[in-house]
Amino acid sequence: MKVLALIGSPRKNWNTDTLADAVLKGAKEAGARVEKIYLDDYNIRPIAEVCDDRRKREDLRADDDFPGLLEQSLDADIVLWSTPVYWQGVSAQMKCFIDRLSSYFGRPPYAQRFEGKGHIVVCTYGRKEPETARWVTGPMKVTVEVLRGRYLGDLGASTSGGGNRIRQMPDVLSAAQELGKKAVQKMAEK
Ligand SMILES: Cc1cc2nc3c(=O)[nH]c(=O)nc-3n(C[C@H](O)[C@H](O)[C@H](O)COP(=O)(O)O)c2cc1C
Repeated sequence: MKVLALIGSPRKNWNTDTLADAVLKGAKEAGARVEKIYLDDYNIRPIAEVCDDRRKREDLRADDDFPGLLEQSLDADIVLWSTPVYWQGVSAQMKCFIDRLSSYFGRPPYAQRFEGKGHIVVCTYGRKEPETARWVTGPMKVTVEVLRGRYLGDLGASTSGGGNRIRQMPDVLSAAQELGKKAVQKMAEK
């Protein structure tokens, strides 16, 4: 079983990355192999025009880094989406990645490869209110539905007050670890 984390923050070793690491730690504990990709390290352009029929779409920008990253994601059994909340949504790095899926997910062999894949969603946000996570978890639940995947759970954590503070939140880190462990166990049951 392989878990691939896609990190949407440009800040390595900061809050969103730390939260993902805790999920991966739990996944490893449950026996999974884990990998991590920082989306900001790659050239993922915004999607170009596509035709309305999703079965006939082509990726007109396939000369950038997206197709390789897509392959890596499709090779994983579980994708961990880890992003800060930016302006009531996922980060632009992650949004570009998600938009680009549109050129592939509706046609063979990609549609079949997406089907049944596991997904975990985690996010951090600057506001205090826990409901802030919904800006990420709401859209991502629908995204997973559209991809015909399995939504294995989510977790949001506030970084209110600023700073690199998730690493000092043992409760959040252990909840994230548990999420990773349970997700792998759930996926192995299928
Ligand atoms: C461009 C930008 C937009 C942001 N928008 C929001 C927002 O809409 N709501 C919120 O609660 N926090 C917002 N934040 C705060 C980040 O979500 C928060 O600091 C997060 O923990 C950063 O994650 P990181 O430390 O992994 O980079 C924003 C931060 C930036 C840089």
